[in-house]
Amino acid sequence: MGLLGLFVFVFPVLGLILNEAVLSNGGTTSSFVRKVEKTIDMPLDSDVFRVPSGYNAPQQVHITQGDLEGKGVIISWVTQEEPGSNTVLYWSKHDKQKSSAEGKYRTYKFYNYTSGYIHHCTIKNLKFNTKYYYEVGIGNTVRQFWFRTPPKVGPDVPYTFGLIGDLGQSYDSNITLTHYEHNPTKGHALLFVGDLSYADNYPFHDNVRWDTWGRFTERSTAYQPWIWTAGNHELDFVPEIGETVPFKPYTHRYPVPYKASGSTAPFWYSIKRASAYIIVLSSYSAYGKYTPQFKWLEAEFPKVNRSETPWLIVLMHSPWYNSYNYHYMEGETMRVMYEPWFVKYKVDMVFAGHVHAYERSERISNVAYNIVNGVCTPIHDQSAPVYITIGDGGNLEGLATNMTEPQPKYSAYREASFGHAILDIKNRTHAYYSWHRNQDGYAVEADSLWFFNRVWNPMDDSTTASS
Ligand SMILES: *[C@@H]1O[C@H](CO)[C@@H](O)[C@H](O)[C@H]1NC(C)=O
Ligand SMILES: *[C@@H]1O[C@H](CO)[C@@H](O)[C@H](O)[C@H]1NC(C)=O
Ligand SMILES: *[C@@H]1O[C@H](CO)[C@@H](O)[C@H](O)[C@H]1NC(C)=O
Ligand SMILES: *[C@@H]1O[C@H](CO)[C@@H](O)[C@H](O)[C@H]1NC(C)=O
Ligand SMILES: *[C@@H]1O[C@H](CO)[C@@H](O)[C@H](O)[C@H]1NC(C)=O
Ligand SMILES: [Fe+2]
Repeated sequence: MGLLGLFVFVFPVLGLILNEAVLSNGGTTSSFVRKVEKTIDMPLDSDVFRVPSGYNAPQQVHITQGDLEGKGVIISWVTQEEPGSNTVLYWSKHDKQKSSAEGKYRTYKFYNYTSGYIHHCTIKNLKFNTKYYYEVGIGNTVRQFWFRTPPKVGPDVPYTFGLIGDLGQSYDSNITLTHYEHNPTKGHALLFVGDLSYADNYPFHDNVRWDTWGRFTERSTAYQPWIWTAGNHELDFVPEIGETVPFKPYTHRYPVPYKASGSTAPFWYSIKRASAYIIVLSSYSAYGKYTPQFKWLEAEFPKVNRSETPWLIVLMHSPWYNSYNYHYMEGETMRVMYEPWFVKYKVDMVFAGHVHAYERSERISNVAYNIVNGVCTPIHDQSAPVYITIGDGGNLEGLATNMTEPQPKYSAYREASFGHAILDIKNRTHAYYSWHRNQDGYAVEADSLWFFNRVWNPMDDSTTASS
């Protein structure tokens, strides 16, 4: 290790002098000064948890993409007193009459909790780029919402994603969601990097907190798809009280279209949306060689056609590059397995959560190490993704403030504040990314970056920071 720091690797094309991580305190640690306050969950009688009025009214309405390319949507809702109706009525303003689709409902028990009737209905073959209204419920308790399908998949289709992780249901969570909603750059769909309700922090994983989370987030999730990633707080594995099926509440409540991408489990899957190809991975499912997730991902990367979807985005919960003293190196074993593919297939950006703070990396990789050669320091790599940790949604566990010092060279920006991000894809060559901390005005960008797509701009440096 000692000698390593003296080595200077010269990147052959760009002629950059690299790998000074051992010797220098690089990067730009944010100078933002914030008062650290306790993060407290909103009480059960909070306005955001209010049950909609009317007998058996549908609640916790949420939608996600329902197929591979964005013509499908899965609509979910809960009725508390009785099953009620499984029907969704939907229409666009050009339609003369409403169409209807039939879903199914299910219930589950968790220790001494019994869920309401959780309905899921998949609607397929919608028109692209169309606003649809939909209704769930019957009689006096019909509730109406709307969503917009994405444009047809294609290389120059602009599209705006929001990004939130580790949200929970504290007062800060509510501020994060409010800032996302009020951001003048409107997200059309939200990429959620795992850890939803934090119900598992309550005694016996009180699943009532899954219900409150569903009601809290409905004001966004009913109107735009949230693309789900499983985090450790979705595991709900509690053998002490007889709960031995991992992800039970999560899978009953938050279905994803995993079969459409040939996946065999809802924890890893992919979707195309506009000009993006989004691969969702599971940090908490087996990913070693020969496992279902490994075999699926191995077959998945070659399917990505960058002439069709120039932007290749990966979501996972546990970050691979994280320089906080929380969850440090927890993502390491998965990085060892998959990072060579991420470099080979030029993944543009990897979003993770888990660490309750914000961090953005340089384009770096660390794939040369083979146990005996000692080459174990990340290097600048123009084929590598930018890694962004955005686990700063605001859950009750509070902020991760303790960082490794000095800031590693590979870490471009890090800050312990709650917030959300926006990825605004302009066309096949340009995407604008911004991170917004909760303390600022809605439009303020605390960190931002132009992404230049390396498949379509091969000679350009691929990012320009403007934070
Ligand atoms: C579940 O069990 C816990 C611990 O005994 C208790 O506090 C809680 O009230 C019970 N909940 C229900 C719904 O019975
Ligand atoms: C949550 O935020 C909304 C504004 O977006 C506000 O109306 C509501 O009162 C807040 N609720 C709590 C409990 O903070
Ligand atoms: C990749 O996508 C482009 C644009 O949609 C299409 O013309 C081409 O045939 C696709 N290539 C493959 C191998 O499918
Ligand atoms: C920060 O983390 C380091 C490494 O785990 C630990 O030694 C140190 O005590 C922590 N500092 C604080 C203020 O918690
Ligand atoms: C792509 O978007 C960028 C940023 O908005 C713009 O400068 C550029 O001209 C666009 N390229 C094309 C081919 O439209
Ligand atoms: Fe987590």
